[in-house]
Order: sequence, then C-alpha cells, then structure tokens
Amino acid sequence: MHRARTVRSFRSIPAVFVAILAMVGACFAARDAYAGHTLPDTLAQRVAACTGCHGREGRAAPDGFHPRIAGKPAGYLYEQLLNFRDGRRRHVAMAHLLANLDDAYLNEIAEHFATQEIPYPAPRTANTTAATLARGRSLVVDGDAARDIPACAACHGERFTGVAPAVPGLLGLPRDYLNAQLGGWKNGLRKARAPDCMATIASRLSPHDIEAVSAWLSSQPVPADGKAATAFSTKPPIECGSIGRDGRKVSP
Ligand code: HEC
Ligand code: HEC
Repeated sequence: MHRARTVRSFRSIPAVFVAILAMVGACFAARDAYAGHTLPDTLAQRVAACTGCHGREGRAAPDGFHPRIAGKPAGYLYEQLLNFRDGRRRHVAMAHLLANLDDAYLNEIAEHFATQEIPYPAPRTANTTAATLARGRSLVVDGDAARDIPACAACHGERFTGVAPAVPGLLGLPRDYLNAQLGGWKNGLRKARAPDCMATIASRLSPHDIEAVSAWLSSQPVPADGKAATAFSTKPPIECGSIGRDGRKVSP
C-alpha cells in the first residue's frame, strides 16, 4: 500500500516539474514582453511577473493554488515577501524573483497590490458533512478552550476580513490553499516571524480540525466591503512576531 503510493507520487514528479517550469516560463515571458516597450518604472515590470502566476491584478489564479494578493493588508503582504525572500516560506520561483530586491522595493510592491480593489468571486459550496462545517464554524468563531485553541476571529477580525496592517483575512481563499497553509505551519514548512503564533495554533489543530476550518471558511461569502478592520476589538490572545505589541507591525 505504502509502496504503491510512493511509486505513484514519484511518477507524478516530472509532470509537476514540467508544469512549474512552464508557469515560470510564462511569467518571465510576460515580463520580457514588456521589455521591448519603454516603461515609466521597473515596478510595472516586476508586477507583470507576479500577475503571470497570481492572476490579473493579483486576483488569484483559478487553480486554487496561486493565491489572491490583491487588496490584502499592506503590512501582511510586505511580511510575506520578506518571508519568501528570507526563507521562512518556500517557493523557488518567488524566492528567485525577490532575491535581489531590497526591503524598500518589496514594500512598494506590497503597497501596489494592497491598493487593488477587485471584487471577490462567489464562494464554493463545501462538499462535506454538516457536522464538519459546524465544527469549522465553531473553531473559527469561538475556538476550543478545552484544547487551548483561541478563536480565529480574535486576531483575524470579527468579520474574518483581517486586521490591518499585519493580519490577513480568512475569507475569499480556496479550500486547498487554506489546507496547505495550516498543514504547512503544522509541519514546519511555513514559518512566520517569531514568536510564531500560527505555528502554535496549528500544532493544536487536528487534521480533522484543519479540514473543518478550511471547508467552512472557503464556503463563506466575503462581505461586500471586504476590507480589513483597522484595530483589534480585544488584545490578541497569543503574541505574534508579525504584530507589534501595540497591535502594529514591528519593523524588519
Ligand atoms: C511561478 C509562480 C509565481 C510567481 C512568478 C510569483 N508568485 Fe507569489 N506565490 C506563488 C505561490 C504558488 C504562492 C503560494 C505558496 C504557498 O503555498 O505558500 C505564492 C504566494 C505569494 C504571497 C503570499 C500570499 C498570502 O496570502 O500569504 C504573496 C504576497 C506573493 N506570492 C506575492 C508575489 C509577488 C509580489 C510576486 C512578484 C514579485 C510573486 N508573488 C510572483 C507563485 C508565484
Ligand atoms: C493570536 C492571533 C491569531 C489567531 C488566534 C489566529 N491567527 Fe491566523 N494569523 C495570524 C497572523 C499574525 C498571521 C500572519 C502570519 C504571517 O505574518 O505570516 C496569520 C495568518 C493566517 C493564515 C495565512 C493566510 C494566508 O493568506 O496565507 C491562515 C490560513 C490563518 N492565519 C488561519 C487561522 C485560523 C484557521 C485560526 C483559528 C484556528 C487562526 N488563524 C487564528 C494571527 C492569528
């Protein structure tokens, strides 16, 4: 059983690799297409490379894997660009693109995408049981005191649209992407600035909790005004390195 699975996953590696190369190629082709024209600044060039993967204006690719970056809080986007450049999050093509960019330039790119106001697509119906959805909702809204899991809403905002500048919203993200991020934190593949509150929280979530939370969140509509809140309603229950002590982002 285990052997069969290993063989199957090895066989799919070349196909995945070719797909990734094709994607990177497309991104660089998009960038090169601009090279023939005179551009007023290099930010437009850099951003064309990004939207080759992240969709027009950063609205997300339809594949459920390349996340939306448009309209996310600027501090959060900036922090992620630092994370990819400095190795706390791993993605080969992104790390390559960001390798030689300084903090000020990354901040400019973050500000560019944060100001894109693009409507969100309708949520998908979650193909799961009512009990799983109910578990997901209850974790997001109330947490689980018995297992020391704080409510996601405590930091991600009462409407789950995030709290600017450092905490992202949890709505409008595909189920696969949510599963991958929470699983990544649980397995140590995604890290945030220490103390890494999301790593602590993910370590307390069971695989079924992760499935439940991702199913419920991805089936909720984004409110018409999907903007992040500007302040926490209560103090975040765990300290997070990417949120300053007074609720503002710490500088790099
Ligand atoms: C080759 C495709 C590719 C290119 C080019 C690319 N990205 Fe990404 N990016 C990804 C993938 C895939 C992820 C999700 C990785 C993961 O699962 O952690 C990601 C994640 C992100 C995130 C984190 C989103 C979140 O909600 O946490 C940000 C921000 C981001 N990219 C910005 C950019 C910017 C800015 C550029 C251009 C400088 C860029 N990306 C270029 C593929 C790409
Ligand atoms: C103590 C505050 C806090 C709590 C509680 C919290 N989060 Fe987070 N979360 C954060 C911060 C801060 C980030 C940004 C981390 C970084 O800078 O990479 C984050 C990021 C995330 C992301 C990444 C989003 C993206 O676009 O990639 C997901 C998914 C997430 N949290 C899910 C959850 C879920 C589900 C819960 C509840 C079970 C939860 N969080 C509870 C603070 C919190």
